Amino acid sequence: MEQTSKLRLGILGSGKGSNMAAIADACAVAGYPAEIAVVVSDVPGAGILDKARERGIRAEVLPPGRFRTKLDDAAERAYIGALQEARVDLVVLAGFMRILKGDFLLAYPERVINIHPSLLPSFPGLEAWRQALDYGVKVTGCTVHLVDQGVDTGPILAQATVRILEDDTAESLHERIQQAERVLYPQTIESLARGTLKVAGRKSRIIAR
Ligand code: GRF
Repeated sequence: MEQTSKLRLGILGSGKGSNMAAIADACAVAGYPAEIAVVVSDVPGAGILDKARERGIRAEVLPPGRFRTKLDDAAERAYIGALQEARVDLVVLAGFMRILKGDFLLAYPERVINIHPSLLPSFPGLEAWRQALDYGVKVTGCTVHLVDQGVDTGPILAQATVRILEDDTAESLHERIQQAERVLYPQTIESLARGTLKVAGRKSRIIAR
């Protein structure tokens, strides 16, 4: 059956929000098959919140609870509640610095995606651009993947490559990877919504609920 309603995105981020802004710009183009329903951050004052509000997008801060790298149970329930209240179809992680697991992933099975600044499965974890530079690879890039219980391990949805230049610093490389991310993430969301993406040989389509 042809999808008529737009995919409602819930974007979680802890940082400056350049990916969120790129997705918002894509959503503003006529015919793009998704819209941002809500932006949630664990960091009061994070740039992503201002960038969302400047664009008239609902933005909320939800405290993460007592852990440093994940949400505690009460926070997890609050995040799920906010996303459900906003009738989110697809959870989009855009620089969200906490690991999601258990009940969160059960609430949105195969409906949580992330963007990572390397060509996974190479260089999972923090500062992936610096890991790539230190290792000496000649090509790196970014990856959009489904989120599973591991860290940067879920099925790969899309990738873009970035060449490493002789005179690259961690900063210059990171900037070019982020430029690539700002193209790849909106394109991948569009492909998911239109059902034109293959995941492990299967076509994957996320239907608006
Ligand atoms: C992105 O570079 C992404 O690779 C990583 O976090 C960063 C978020 O940047 N997961 P921004 O907040 O979207 O500018």
